[in-house]
Amino acid sequence: MKLLQDRIRQDGVALNGQVLKVDSFLNHQVDAGLTMEIGKAFAAEFGAQGVTKVLTIEASGIHFALATAVALGVPFVYAKKKKAVTLTEDLYTVPVHSFTRGETFNVSVSKRYLQAEDRVLIVDDFLATGDALLGLQEIVRLSGAHLVGIGAVIEKSFQEGRAKLEATGVKIHSLARIKSMSPEHMEFLEEESL
Ligand code: G4P
Ligand code: NA
Ligand code: NA
Repeated sequence: MKLLQDRIRQDGVALNGQVLKVDSFLNHQVDAGLTMEIGKAFAAEFGAQGVTKVLTIEASGIHFALATAVALGVPFVYAKKKKAVTLTEDLYTVPVHSFTRGETFNVSVSKRYLQAEDRVLIVDDFLATGDALLGLQEIVRLSGAHLVGIGAVIEKSFQEGRAKLEATGVKIHSLARIKSMSPEHMEFLEEESL
């Protein structure tokens, strides 16, 4: 997605080769127009596949799930992170290790909002180690719903997330795939010119 690649070049800050700060337009302050375009891009990619629900994880996936759900005309659900170990029967709960926080959280979705008949599109801001997305995928599996695919706004292709997720056979679509980065440069895997 050219608009997104250009914006990452302009306003993204690579703290080092591993972590990209995008909190001036995606993650903290949010460019609402760009967010809606991101939602349309995911809807264009997956819209033909009968998606009934968009699934993400709090916090920074929520606005992308909203934009995607608006474009598809379906509800979205966001998985909640809890530190507590209380497992209740009416929740699907999986442990997820957070790359940025260095902590393990339990991630939960109410059984009421994911059902076996659902066709689920997972979206999130980053595809990095893949751990958060694997957790969401596991929640979909537990529910018996069909996983249509995964949409990531930014993929850090030099991390192992895509390989881990592709090993499960799921279709992944990332809107910007970073091949490598540093404070001085930014290289995308598929440079878009339009
Ligand atoms: P993932 O690849 O499935 O997303 O799993 P991973 O565990 O690698 O990353 C999970 C968390 O780390 C996510 O946020 C994700 O947005 C964030 N993250 C990963 N790489 C980067 C990066 O380069 N820059 C930024 N800004 N964030 C990154 P989270 O811990 O779930 O928290 P939240 O921010 O969504 O609340
Ligand atoms: Na996230
Ligand atoms: Na995040």
